[in-house]
Amino acid sequence: MTAHKRYPIPDAIKDTTLLNEEQYQAMYNQSISDPEAFWAEQAGMLEWYQAPTKIKNTRFGEGEVSIKWFEDGELNASYNCIDRHLADNAKKTAIHWEGDTPGEAEAITYQQLHYEVCKLANGLKKLGVKKGDRVAIYMPMVPQAAYAMLACARIGAVHSVIFGGFSPNAIADRINDSDAKVIITSDEGRRAGRSVPLKTNVDKALADGACPSITNAVVLKLTGADVDWNDDVDVWWDELVDDCTGQCEPEVMNAEDPLFILYTSGSTGTPKGVVHTTGGYLLYTAMTFKYVFDYQPDDIYWCTADVGWITGHSYMVYGPLINGASQVFFEGVPNYPDVRRIAQVVEKYKVNSLYTAPTAIRALMAHGDKPAEGCDLSSLRLLGSVGEPINPEAWEWYHRVLGENRCPIVDTWWQTETGGIMITPLAGATELKPGSATRPFFGIEPALFDADGKELEGANEGNLVIKNSWPSQARTVYGDHERFINTYFSTYPGVYFTGDGARRDEDDYFWITGRVDDVLNVSGHRLGTAEIESAMVAHSKVAEAAVVGYPHDIKGQGIYVYVTPNDGVTADEALSKELRDWVRNELSPIATPDKIQWSEGLPKTRSGKIMRRILRKIAANEHDQLGDTSTLADPSVVDKLIAERLNK
Ligand code: WTA
Repeated sequence: MTAHKRYPIPDAIKDTTLLNEEQYQAMYNQSISDPEAFWAEQAGMLEWYQAPTKIKNTRFGEGEVSIKWFEDGELNASYNCIDRHLADNAKKTAIHWEGDTPGEAEAITYQQLHYEVCKLANGLKKLGVKKGDRVAIYMPMVPQAAYAMLACARIGAVHSVIFGGFSPNAIADRINDSDAKVIITSDEGRRAGRSVPLKTNVDKALADGACPSITNAVVLKLTGADVDWNDDVDVWWDELVDDCTGQCEPEVMNAEDPLFILYTSGSTGTPKGVVHTTGGYLLYTAMTFKYVFDYQPDDIYWCTADVGWITGHSYMVYGPLINGASQVFFEGVPNYPDVRRIAQVVEKYKVNSLYTAPTAIRALMAHGDKPAEGCDLSSLRLLGSVGEPINPEAWEWYHRVLGENRCPIVDTWWQTETGGIMITPLAGATELKPGSATRPFFGIEPALFDADGKELEGANEGNLVIKNSWPSQARTVYGDHERFINTYFSTYPGVYFTGDGARRDEDDYFWITGRVDDVLNVSGHRLGTAEIESAMVAHSKVAEAAVVGYPHDIKGQGIYVYVTPNDGVTADEALSKELRDWVRNELSPIATPDKIQWSEGLPKTRSGKIMRRILRKIAANEHDQLGDTSTLADPSVVDKLIAERLNK
């Protein structure tokens, strides 16, 4: 194996870091050898109405999975994010909102955040929302998205944020799965100079009584666009909160009360409603935010994610706010109006730590050094990466062009289900190797297993599992605990299975190799092949479809679809376009197929199971590595597919 380039810890970081190597080792060792004592002490990072005395009560048994942390503790998430800062930092900026259009901006202090959140919390109460009720949030990247989440948390309602890029069907599915009572949205969203018809999408989702649990839609007037109005359901945000006060007593919540549901794609079936609870989630996100970003009280932090994903929940709302941080909240995209936008925003707000995704980095890298041209990036101290494996070339570009060869990069591996960052370098403690997420955070015990369930030791490659529970672990799949157990705890009894593959090197550094199941990672967005396939076959001209990922320069993975049209249907460019548009509308623009290959038949086993392994190889143009094809019902299908493949 080739020796990897190493990047030592910069001297400037050594002077200010919260944790050096020795401190990391000591804390890590304690977190593993005595989790009770470790987490009992860390729990002091939060403010509790009732401090927990029972710390960890977790079982990953076969057939029985029960995860409880701090179970007798009582607290409120919105209190921890806002109220506790008011005594000393009421005037500190919590959110520097930067609009899609340069020049549009607004600063929100902790005091204002308190006022806005309380008003909306009171407004939701007026609509009858109570502790435990679910509230769907379908919002663009404006501060009101954070207000909405925190208002729910304040009154003990469970928020379920639906990414603003999802289409009406996907919205309806998520509302119905969680029986949401209210949905909060805006007239439109804005992205890269275009408008996104959020309210219209909600109208379509609710049409014809499709979402019977919804009693009201709260609508923020953002662009002022004309929208249809249903007096029985719709209520303007401003009008709702007009007569509400800016004071709202936080609801006292048990540590194990649910804080939110977030839907995520799995390898089979419909998206799962991953449930996170209050105490453990808040503590772990607060702590990872502090140490992973080596947070200093005057820092300006910027995460470019969207609140519709877990990164937006943990590292744009809960983690930074619990720490009382000032952060940039960005409505737009990295290359609008041009590819210098990220660098310009860094310069404007003097950003100290920037957290973004490899797909954004690769898109900028395609423009050479231009994305940083003429911009002052000297404020940056630390860079972060999340969402997909970062290839060493992108890492090097990020380090050189945005990091000016000065800033360490924390490549953070984690998942919706893990709630917070699991494997990551710490800027002051970890020598970096481009492409490696390096070492576990406190309390995390990663291991590698082979296909037979045997644990692999030393430098090795296998399936990544976590051997013991950590505070921000998902507790269940909403309404389906059985599915939770089957998905994460049945492959390897007694441990949590991540669905990712990884390699551990001679320094015990982890290198995440990507999903080992049928989950795609397209531009850092997690998509299930099953969801895209079911959208495809819902089209009247499609008999059968199989979806696989293939290597894509910018997106990481592209979506490759094999389609068998119905008899008598002409398979041509027009149909290809029709199917692409169909998936956009049925599911989401992010799920739009990149390539559609017509196929008379798909490779199947004699029992009728599609052999995706073979389809993946053909799509990746690795047809000389098909492996064992002896179990195919009709091997000639494969030759045809290879002859007609699109990636020649
Ligand atoms: C992938 C996003 C390599 C991985 C926080 C995981 C990564 C899935 C990294 C979860 C990383 C995330 N290196 N792969 N640093 N971060 N992934 O639930 O495959 O949207 O299982 O959570 O993204 O995606 P999710």
